[in-house]
Amino acid sequence: MSFNTFGHMFRVTTFGESHGPAIGCVVDGCPPALPLTEAEIQHHLDRRRPGQSRFTTQRREPDAVRIVSGIFQDPASGAQVTTGTPIALLIDNVDQRSKDYADIASKYRPGHADYAYDVKYGLRDYRGGGRSSARETAARVAAGAVARKVVPGLSVRAALVQMGTETIDRTRWDWDEVDNNPFFCPDAEKAKFFEGYLDAIRKSGSSVGAVIEVVADGVPPGLGAPIYGKLDADIAAALMSINAVKGVEIGAGFAAATLTGEANSDEMRMGNDGRPIFLSNQAGGILGGISTGQQIVARFAVKPTSSILAPRASIDRHGRETEISTKGRHDPCVGIRAVPIGEAMLACVIADHYLRQRGQVGAPPSWPFPPSAP
Ligand SMILES: Cc1cc2nc3c(=O)[nH]c(=O)nc-3n(C[C@H](O)[C@H](O)[C@H](O)COP(=O)(O)O)c2cc1C
Repeated sequence: MSFNTFGHMFRVTTFGESHGPAIGCVVDGCPPALPLTEAEIQHHLDRRRPGQSRFTTQRREPDAVRIVSGIFQDPASGAQVTTGTPIALLIDNVDQRSKDYADIASKYRPGHADYAYDVKYGLRDYRGGGRSSARETAARVAAGAVARKVVPGLSVRAALVQMGTETIDRTRWDWDEVDNNPFFCPDAEKAKFFEGYLDAIRKSGSSVGAVIEVVADGVPPGLGAPIYGKLDADIAAALMSINAVKGVEIGAGFAAATLTGEANSDEMRMGNDGRPIFLSNQAGGILGGISTGQQIVARFAVKPTSSILAPRASIDRHGRETEISTKGRHDPCVGIRAVPIGEAMLACVIADHYLRQRGQVGAPPSWPFPPSAP
């Protein structure tokens, strides 16, 4: 049984716990001859890294990545490239403070995985949440950096569009703003508001949830497959696998249920370049489980951090009723750092389906078909 691997042809296995010596991943199936440096992977890890503002956990992890295998200096170009063999990426844990977790060694945090791990395995690494900690997601971000290289012209971006009950004004959406504020928020005005909003929540010992939107441009048409290989199903599974995610939608998502057939149909016209133009994108770029060449748009809802200072009723592992107030270093809104994680997961799924499409179909059919074709 293996529950730590995802993807078929672009296959990622992650390992490690929050307070173990290191975390990392093995990326298997990456094509050869793709230029790949540690600096490129580090760029993405730095966006997820903790302790960068007062709005995320103060755990100090440099998240410095090492490429341990799968690369070689190309004799022809001199560039460091992938070899086609497994790429192992290693990130040391350096700032564990296990004594902070003595209290939860026997008590269960409501909303966290403590009880569920105990009742399944009979024991758990309670230090920092062990394997249930989002430390593991650093490995996914590293794998995502490799995935981005696989599909030529692919761009995957994400942004925080809601925190608690507060949504952004989409007319002010500016991708350039996303890396200009501590929330990955595309609405500069709302980002300013979030500072006071989240400060108040943090100081009261509470936490809040968020919604993240992930967008992929440059996705070739034809990725995905009917029924059990649906691209949208794999995207949903990948995003849902991120810690604290409780909902995923593609395109219009749940709002599609409120639309009429006319409003929901993405009408089609022919573009001057001989490719179709869709007049809207309620489908989020996927029809029949297969990409249409439109932008892929997905959103996911992240619940509020369950480790909060505010006292909560709970039980301990001996079945006794107790109260718990979680100290230690926690994100008041885990949705913020989920932004680069969402990007990484979408990039991995698209890379996997790109290679699967190449494996099954080879060169894509030449569309549009000539008038002589049936
Ligand atoms: C980036 C990120 C950081 C997180 N940090 C914390 C944290 O500091 N404290 C906490 O209780 N949960 C945190 N979580 C959420 C837990 O890992 C998660 O709720 C827990 O593993 C239970 O899994 P589930 O919520 O998916 O059911 C974080 C999640 C993400 C995505």
